[in-house]
Amino acid sequence: MTEYSLKEGIIVSSSKSACGALAVKGGEISGRKAPSGPAVDLQGMSFVYPALINTHDHLRGNYLPRVGPSEGKFYLNWLPWDNDLKASACYAERTRALDIQKGYLLSAYKNLFSGVVTVNDHFPHKLNAEILPSLPIRAIQNYAIEHECSSYDLKWGAGIQEEHDSAVKNGWPFITHLSEGFDDESMDSISRLENLGALDNHCLFVHCIAFSDEDIRKCAAAGASISWCAASNMFMFNTTCKIKKFIEAGVNVTIGTDSSHTGSYNLFEEIKYGRSIYRAMYGEDLSPQSIFNMVTLNAAKAFWMDEKTGSLDTGKYADILVLKAKHDDAYENLCSAGSEDIELLVREGKPLFGEMRFIELLNGTLPEGYTVVKIGGRDMFVAGDPLALYRHIRSAAGVKKTLEFLPFEPDEQ
Ligand SMILES: [Fe+2]
Repeated sequence: MTEYSLKEGIIVSSSKSACGALAVKGGEISGRKAPSGPAVDLQGMSFVYPALINTHDHLRGNYLPRVGPSEGKFYLNWLPWDNDLKASACYAERTRALDIQKGYLLSAYKNLFSGVVTVNDHFPHKLNAEILPSLPIRAIQNYAIEHECSSYDLKWGAGIQEEHDSAVKNGWPFITHLSEGFDDESMDSISRLENLGALDNHCLFVHCIAFSDEDIRKCAAAGASISWCAASNMFMFNTTCKIKKFIEAGVNVTIGTDSSHTGSYNLFEEIKYGRSIYRAMYGEDLSPQSIFNMVTLNAAKAFWMDEKTGSLDTGKYADILVLKAKHDDAYENLCSAGSEDIELLVREGKPLFGEMRFIELLNGTLPEGYTVVKIGGRDMFVAGDPLALYRHIRSAAGVKKTLEFLPFEPDEQ
């Protein structure tokens, strides 16, 4: 049974950060006292966070560059974007470079290299159920889904009521894009769900751009969650949801990257972008502590997984992110972090990515299934072989592709 501890780290929760030990046993947080197994001393130089949660991504859709409206123009809703994507040179190159399995793996690394251990792949189960368990990070499998709850959406679920019923019966989230645009249906989406009896605390709505003040109030009263995807929204529509009103109304706000075809490179970049756009919209700062909650416990609640992840409480999964301490404030440190600041990332007790000093937690030697990659001048162990994947993409695409969410250059390894 895995048993180890991180000593003298600054352990971060929603309300405070304090120096101490974090013990892991059998894939769970076992407490604050170091057990008998191996221990790594962080010497008060590192913050220890719950691993991050990205509430919106499309794991077969991460490639670059972005595909969007022509210069100076923006979309009415997501549909013309979907047509533009399928007709794009980027999409053709992506198809050439990546089969479905490799596309998923690439997306897993996009998330892993930004401290994410839990993500939702917004695609129907029949397209991802066999692939998700093979990924190094956790792509949730327990969710009900609609594409967008509009008459012209892609019919990814069994229908709003049936999917929502299944969410209620199973204790799952009901996840759907909603109001991703400004057509009549986008403007009326909350009323439609309300009339169907499908507006409650199982709902995780992605985008919500055209929500009125009344829609926001109804969302808050129902206990629904939203996934705020600011970068994707601004790129496609030159606006995003009324995020301050959602927060002030008490809606459970989380953050999603969306795919890199429209969104940020990864969650670290999305956090920075969201903060900057909030400042531009409202002339004030969105507190880093709020952002920390959005990418940890709020997101776990939205996924109906807060008994298992989202904080470092005893008994939860040992999903852990250790970041170099570059700021005195733990939340500010997270909100300014990049891939090069990750010292260790752990899923259910299993180190996925880390500096070589943490190899002690893997019984002292690099196990089968791990490789070493140089990031920010440091040798880092990583589950799987992202270097081989990157090289495969370059070879299959036939171009010296740069994918900014992979934080290393294959030719310099
Ligand atoms: Fe999306």
